Amino acid sequence: MNNLSERLANLSPEQRSQLLSRLRGGVAVSPTKDRPFVPKSLDLKAEVTLADEIRPQAPVDLAQLEHVVTNPTAVFVTGGTGFLGAFLIQDLLRHTAADVYCLTRANSVGEAKTRLQQNLSRYEIWQPAWASRIVPVLGDITQPLLGLTEAAFGALSQKLDAIYHSAAMLNYILPYSALKKPNVQGTQEILRLACQNKTKPVHYVSSVAVFESSAYAGRVLTEADPLDSTEGMFIGYSHSKWVAEQVMLLGRDRGIPITIHRASFISGDSNTGITNTNDFVCMMLKQCFRMGVMPDLTFMLDASPVDYVSRSIVYLSMQPQSIGHVFHLQHPQAITLKTLGSAYRLLGLDLRQIPYREWVAALKADAAQDAENPFNRLLPFFTQEYEEGLTLPELNAAERRPTISCEATLNALEGSGIVCPPPDARMLGRFLSYFIQSGFLELPLLSRLNPILLYVIATPGQKAIALAVFLSLVGLGLSLPRWQPLLSSGL
Ligand SMILES: NC(=O)c1ccc[n+]([C@@H]2O[C@H](COP(=O)([O-])OP(=O)(O)OC[C@H]3O[C@@H](n4cnc5c(N)ncnc54)[C@H](OP(=O)(O)O)[C@@H]3O)[C@@H](O)[C@H]2O)c1
Repeated sequence: MNNLSERLANLSPEQRSQLLSRLRGGVAVSPTKDRPFVPKSLDLKAEVTLADEIRPQAPVDLAQLEHVVTNPTAVFVTGGTGFLGAFLIQDLLRHTAADVYCLTRANSVGEAKTRLQQNLSRYEIWQPAWASRIVPVLGDITQPLLGLTEAAFGALSQKLDAIYHSAAMLNYILPYSALKKPNVQGTQEILRLACQNKTKPVHYVSSVAVFESSAYAGRVLTEADPLDSTEGMFIGYSHSKWVAEQVMLLGRDRGIPITIHRASFISGDSNTGITNTNDFVCMMLKQCFRMGVMPDLTFMLDASPVDYVSRSIVYLSMQPQSIGHVFHLQHPQAITLKTLGSAYRLLGLDLRQIPYREWVAALKADAAQDAENPFNRLLPFFTQEYEEGLTLPELNAAERRPTISCEATLNALEGSGIVCPPPDARMLGRFLSYFIQSGFLELPLLSRLNPILLYVIATPGQKAIALAVFLSLVGLGLSLPRWQPLLSSGL
């Protein structure tokens, strides 16, 4: 069998999945009519299993847990080399006296330490004084016992007071079969750790993607609503998070103290604007800037800054009354992609808003011209058609989505001083400034020299000078009318 397409057609589902995993580093993986994103045979409810032995060895006395919940001495974090994980480590170090054990993929403890330190440094939150409280644990969530020996797993389980499970594979293109090991089986092993020896609370980072089912369209969903619908869910990542959450709920029903934190998109640090520029939204924005056009789509961007998400998780995890509850950490003041586009235009950026289908045509033309563009591997997300011939962004437009309420979460945060900063001009400016100063977005964008944009991207020193100049202009009775619409727009 010499022909490549014949050989691919004859791969077993397992071989196909292995090939997908190997390709995931950046090669386009496109669904086709005979290889859709969602295999018809996938029964998500049947995927929800938890080995019978994973259950508390004795009934959990919540009153007894209270002391370790509020004063942990050793906590376990997965995903510490990722975006949210970096901030979780920071907040646990800041707000508890605990040592933070971090499950890390590495060949040696030294390498793991370096990876963790470099990750916190990347987000400018590293403090050398923390080094002695960060304890790497070499392992892998896809492996039985997280890749630890039985002895090491047992010793670790004895030490820990709480588990923060943030590790996952975030990929909107791969099917469920390719994400099952990290996102579902990893969760099962985390619950095994939670039950080994003493029972300890688990804080699981989930996603509002669990509500992707079309059955929820138009409804208001609270933290207490049951998660029972799967029809019309198309994204493999959403499948994996739905199954993982159900596995957590199975564990909760068996008496494991579990708290679920559902995030939406996570944006950059609200203090510095520093963000994970490899994420889906950033890559999409970069592509829009590259083409000079943005889709005129009411796709919801209820992204919360990473520091809000992380600080909330750590705060809520230390309140005994949180145990057993679900929290919604999306931004309470969502904006749409369309509003974001308008805000960028107001800043003077050369970004035209066009109908979604025209934008997709422009995407395809751009991909044909530059086959090396890393964005091309996300193309299927924007082009593949599902129900009613609609693509995923169209199916996820605001009018087809549920409204996700975070009222109970905001009530639980009341009195903590934790507030989600509004998506206003200052916040937007901070993110844009980081994009430009870090080189993520290139300067030729500044085709129209708008004073607001220049101010947004200026360094703090330059800002001080600009402000002084501005004040002296105002003093001279001059004004800059282009500032006014943005400042009064609430964006
Ligand atoms: N980012 C968002 O917008 C968003 C939105 C909603 C929910 N969430 C949820 O938030 C959590 C954190 O997301 P994130 O943005 O921080 O993701 P991220 O930056 O992609 O980080 C993923 C982390 O998971 C680790 N990981 C993946 N596979 C692993 C394995 N087999 N063994 C051990 N560690 C493994 C990665 O380790 P390596 O560095 O070794 O790869 C990395 O530390 C996830 O559970 C995600 O589902 C994120």
